[in-house]
Amino acid sequence: MKLSGHTILVTGGSAGIGLAFATKFLELGNEVIITGRRKSRLDQIKKNHPGLHTIASDVSDAASVASLAAEVREHFPRLDVLMNNAGVMVSRNLAVPAADLGALTSEIDINVNGTIRTTSALIDVIRANRGTIINVSSALAFVPLTSAPIYCATKAAIHSYTSSLRFQLQDAGVQVVELMPPAVKTELTEGLSEASGIKLITTDELVAATIKALEAGKVEIRPGQANQLHWMSRLAPGVINGMLHKASKPLIPGEGESGGGGSSAWGHRGGLA
Ligand SMILES: NC(=O)c1ccc[n+]([C@@H]2O[C@H](COP(=O)([O-])OP(=O)(O)OC[C@H]3O[C@@H](n4cnc5c(N)ncnc54)[C@H](OP(=O)(O)O)[C@@H]3O)[C@@H](O)[C@H]2O)c1
Repeated sequence: MKLSGHTILVTGGSAGIGLAFATKFLELGNEVIITGRRKSRLDQIKKNHPGLHTIASDVSDAASVASLAAEVREHFPRLDVLMNNAGVMVSRNLAVPAADLGALTSEIDINVNGTIRTTSALIDVIRANRGTIINVSSALAFVPLTSAPIYCATKAAIHSYTSSLRFQLQDAGVQVVELMPPAVKTELTEGLSEASGIKLITTDELVAATIKALEAGKVEIRPGQANQLHWMSRLAPGVINGMLHKASKPLIPGEGESGGGGSSAWGHRGGLA
């Protein structure tokens, strides 16, 4: 895939991985639109990167996605790359009743339903422009980090959904890419320590490896430890699952350092839980 001259929408482009890709895409000569729920944050980013277009939007809200799609159709009809990146991760203790049954499935509403909705709302535009869809899943699509059990299930779901999407669009001239990042230093992984044996790469390292893979035409991109986890999940699933459980056990709320209760956000934005 040539990486200039596109019109690219990055959901959750106001922080971490999404922002790193958005600024790189801009630098490479693309028109780039980013979304996020917090308008104040988008306004701040616009100040630092005036070339980026920003639209406040919540992928977990169907009306908000419909309104985003309408705005994109009106102002960016040449949209040809959709990067479904918005996501949250919450540590959860499945052994105790959840205090809030609605919030218990927030990751599904955002990580899974958000990706499916955004794709559907813009699929005709992407098809008309013979474009590319990039779904951001995770290395944890293959192996569960047990402290974030629902998050890992959402990423496994995105892996399956992306495979079907790729087959359904294979004759439509639309390329479907799945990016499965390993652990990356962002707000989402603030609670994760390298002491557990999990290596955290920087967003710049992730972007550089992904750009190389996109240029080489790869449709399943597994940078660094993501590739190792993929193969371990096939060769010795019991071993790798046990290792990850041991590493993440202290992060289960009520089991270790995260304190009591049934859930806690990994990042600083506890309100997302
Ligand atoms: N960091 C890692 O180690 C890692 C590894 C594998 C995969 N991933 C995946 O990579 C993606 C980005 O993660 P990150 O680490 O960059 O996280 P991050 O730093 O916490 O950034 C998340 C971004 O998503 C936005 N967002 C969250 N909920 C949203 C919603 N409902 N609607 C629209 N935007 C929303 C956030 O903005 P607002 O809060 O303002 O909405 C923010 O811009 C996620 O899908 C994550 O699962 C991350």
